Amino acid sequence: MTTPESRPEWQALDAHRKEMAATTLVELFAADEAESTAAGGRSRFEQFRLDAVGLSLDFSKNHLTARTHELLVELARASDVEARLAAMFDGAIVNPTEGRPALHTALRNRSNEPVEVNGKDVMPGIREVLERLSAFSTRVREGEWKGYTGKAITDVVNIGIGGSDLGPLMAVEALAPFAHERLSFHFVSNVDGAHIASTLKGLDPATTLVIVASKTFTTQETLANAHSARSWFLDSPASDADIARHFVAVSTNAEAVAAFGIDTDNMFGFWDWVGGRYSLWSAIGLPLMLAIGPAQFERFLAGAHAMDKHVRSAPLEANLPVTLALLSVWYGNFRESRSQLVAPYEQYLHRFPAYLQQLTMESNGKRVHVDGTAVNIATEAVVWGEPGTNGQHAFFQLVHQGTHVIPTDFILALESLSPIGEHHLLLMANCFAQSEALMKGKSREAVVAEMQAAGIGDNEIEQLANHRTFPGDRPSNTILMQRLDPYTLGSLIALYEHKVFVEAAIWDINPFDQWGVELGKQLASSIAAELRDGQRVTVHDSSTNGLINYAIQQRNIQA
Ligand code: F6P
Repeated sequence: MTTPESRPEWQALDAHRKEMAATTLVELFAADEAESTAAGGRSRFEQFRLDAVGLSLDFSKNHLTARTHELLVELARASDVEARLAAMFDGAIVNPTEGRPALHTALRNRSNEPVEVNGKDVMPGIREVLERLSAFSTRVREGEWKGYTGKAITDVVNIGIGGSDLGPLMAVEALAPFAHERLSFHFVSNVDGAHIASTLKGLDPATTLVIVASKTFTTQETLANAHSARSWFLDSPASDADIARHFVAVSTNAEAVAAFGIDTDNMFGFWDWVGGRYSLWSAIGLPLMLAIGPAQFERFLAGAHAMDKHVRSAPLEANLPVTLALLSVWYGNFRESRSQLVAPYEQYLHRFPAYLQQLTMESNGKRVHVDGTAVNIATEAVVWGEPGTNGQHAFFQLVHQGTHVIPTDFILALESLSPIGEHHLLLMANCFAQSEALMKGKSREAVVAEMQAAGIGDNEIEQLANHRTFPGDRPSNTILMQRLDPYTLGSLIALYEHKVFVEAAIWDINPFDQWGVELGKQLASSIAAELRDGQRVTVHDSSTNGLINYAIQQRNIQA
């Protein structure tokens, strides 16, 4: 097998990195501005900017020249990115460790093209589930679907975890201004009883709809929460017969749904070729459809589908997801950055970083290649973030003056969904100011001059100047959209999904399995049995034995 680092294109980038190592962002801007002014050509901003599907990416504040970009694109081409994308879209087994295709793109396929798995077109099944979801959502939204006392539903509680929680939660929050006025949405994921208890407290079982969302319907946390929700419901005057009006399931496992006691007539299915973290486009998106309605959900799918068409048809050098992936590879593999910050300057996107963490790190947090051999290069960075401007008053100190260089994605909508006074102008100003400050920094000379102009004495200047100096040269992307709506949200999510896929193609890893979550699950279930049993344990290491035995002992004392 050709490893990524043994490709000549990788080595060419490595050599180029050395040539580029000492060139700063400010120098790159200065050189490009001089050249464009002399030649009457394009500014650096114009040169490194891409527009597609309602999104505009400014990637000029990165350590790259036209040559870097060319070399990165050559690496993508040599890594068969186009063929690998085609294989995914066409239903090939792109998840070999689980023997499955990954066809989240079929879920939002708005064309009339068939998509085949094992020789069978999956599109009719997808359309049928979408129609059932639409019919159900319309009945709930219009108040035709009644609870057991004859009242319309007012509250929807989604019980799920990971991909069965983060996607719908993020999207319902992101599109809150488009949501139905009567309906409130709640999401319970954590097995900590505080989550379900605090959510159900104050809700009326007679007007609450519970969605139990689990691809496998075997996830411990989700089942524990679903059982507690059912007990809460049955503790009201409701009876078993009323469960059908208040509990629905979203799953691929009809047998387990029936065993839990939910009528499979009230189940919305999907398929094993939909990965959990890619499932928002399937029936897992039910909370979003209930919130925004079937027509807007259709817009959401359309935005993602348009990004699907873009990633397949745009040349690699003008391809948004490919560009984001190549920058990620550039910083992670050639400039040693180990973390990526995502900062949406849009309060409605406040759960977007959490959603991206699962999408990115569960997909590409891998240490073996597709064929099982060890990876010798860095794979996924740690992805994290918070909305701006909050992050500025918390962790941006480290991004500006810490010892790590953290490439940052700023995301901003130009039009506010909540226009109040000057709020949006201030939000935009802060977003643009951060990327400028990160890039330019502030030299010691500038700090000294500013302090002298303010009349500060030499001693104080000497003590403080280094503390007040910003190194700058910190890279960022800025992604702009006109406004955050179902279409642009769909496009934004698909942009990052494909970014993750292209990274995986370059690293030659499988982005669609997640074996790394299994060991903890196995151990938790045997430790749960030991805690239930309450007997002193000796089978673990001394730390784990000690913790378990201490917990058992303390519990005995409390009892
Ligand atoms: O534990 C990880 C994981 O398998 C995720 O990949 C998935 O999104 C989540 O658990 C929930 O799984 P399920 O939808 O089957 O309950």
